[in-house]
Amino acid sequence: MKIKVTRTPETGTRPKDEDLGFGTVFTDHMFVMDYDMEKGWHDPRIEPFSEFSLSPAAMVFHYGQAIFEGLKAYKTPEGKIQLFRARDNYKRMNRSARGLCIPELDIDFAMEAMKELIRLEEKWIPETLGTSLYVRPFIIATDPFLGVRSSFTFKFFIILSPVGAYYAEGFNPVKIWVSKSHVRAVRGGVGEFKTAGNYAASLFAGEMAKKEGYAQVMWLDALEQKYIEEVGAMNIFFMIDDTLVTPNLTGSILPGITRYSVIDLARKWGIKVKESKIGIDEVFSAHEQGRLKEVFGSGTAAVISPVGEIRYGDRMIHIGDGTPGETAMKFYDALTAIQYGRAEDTESWIEVIN
Ligand code: PLP
Ligand code: COI
Repeated sequence: MKIKVTRTPETGTRPKDEDLGFGTVFTDHMFVMDYDMEKGWHDPRIEPFSEFSLSPAAMVFHYGQAIFEGLKAYKTPEGKIQLFRARDNYKRMNRSARGLCIPELDIDFAMEAMKELIRLEEKWIPETLGTSLYVRPFIIATDPFLGVRSSFTFKFFIILSPVGAYYAEGFNPVKIWVSKSHVRAVRGGVGEFKTAGNYAASLFAGEMAKKEGYAQVMWLDALEQKYIEEVGAMNIFFMIDDTLVTPNLTGSILPGITRYSVIDLARKWGIKVKESKIGIDEVFSAHEQGRLKEVFGSGTAAVISPVGEIRYGDRMIHIGDGTPGETAMKFYDALTAIQYGRAEDTESWIEVIN
């Protein structure tokens, strides 16, 4: 399929790197493609970033048939544009598509479309370590219909946003709050898919956490409310004694690409890794016994984010001394060095696109 390109004459200006937050500034163009039963995915185009119209009856507004991804493009000191494990994002997007009865994408084509868009928007890619061009592919259901069924028509978009750190704290430790009253997802549901409803379901507890001064919620499993699943926008790791423990993928956790990368690097470095059930009580007792060395989250937006405090009902623990722990630092440095082209890509995670 040929991508039709319509350029806007009105181009914006990228904010200074130090002024970049997360997800508020968008580039000049976006990629769009439509789906219907007869033509499949068709009419791929790059056009000016702008509002678009949909019927108020479009199914996405009513039943949330929507999936998305999040990945980043990085600029190296030599001016190369690099993607980190981007194919894995589209593979995960197709898994989410299957889970939500959305037609899958041709991964090669979606990758090409994204690369063409990123190349066109090169001037929007910030250059400082810690900044990048966030890529948000998403698919929405567009049938104007109020009955509950899967839509027959969809739209696929890719939008781009130059970003800095996800958390206001930057790389400083964040405080997280364990929800006792709410759960995010249950096995057999859609927790392992990157679908809009999972984030809608997280908002109420997220607001409760925020009121108490916490950055994000750490979710427990929905059945027993004992075992740690993940944090709002990241997977979670605990360094207990000399073992890196992270919840195993039970079906209700997002299989994070950064999570896999941390596990791969840890094994390569000879750190013991345990993917298993881990109870919140176990974390608190490990802390009491002085065995909980570090806690950190992993995610595309969050990168590696040290956790300095965990609150669970009226119990609270502090981890570390208020500065990022040694292990979190090591993963942050190694991952970002690969992503920004400052270290050799020993794992073949990088694709240079210019
Ligand atoms: N868990 C949730 C709920 C997320 O939204 C994200 C972010 O994408 C992650 C985990 C981390 O996944 P990844 O490392 O692929 O970005
Ligand atoms: C990401 O890390 O890419 C995410 O999607 C997290 C969040 C912004 C939803």
